[in-house]
Amino acid sequence: MFAYNLDHVAIAVHDLDAALAEYSRLYGSEPLHREVVGEQGVEEAMIAVGGSHVQLLQPLDAESPVGRFLSTRGEGLHHIALAVADIDAALRHLESEGARLIDREPRIGGRGAKIAFVHPKQFAGTLVELVEVVSEGTDD
Ligand code: CO
Repeated sequence: MFAYNLDHVAIAVHDLDAALAEYSRLYGSEPLHREVVGEQGVEEAMIAVGGSHVQLLQPLDAESPVGRFLSTRGEGLHHIALAVADIDAALRHLESEGARLIDREPRIGGRGAKIAFVHPKQFAGTLVELVEVVSEGTDD
């Protein structure tokens, strides 16, 4: 019904600069994009992996959601993000199927994309982010 592609796998880290340096040294990969997303309390960087991405997340403070995640669970997998063509339709579908949504309405995330989180209970303890990526214009 919906075309889900894997947009990114997100890893929570204590030190974004150090993590990026490790990715560069070990895998030769440089970030495509780096951004502070104040609303989510993170600084994030995207690394291209084939047609998808690894997203590294560093909390801006210890009380942000990712900060609390790090203090209780340590560094590691934070969420997976699935790209959808129509996030509103995907949310209505999930809701109609009884899925527990963290965001009932999309909000704006990194890269200006519309995003919404689905409760980890709906996917074996893994937080899922839906992403409707806005097409990148050539003129800006
Ligand atoms: Co994400």
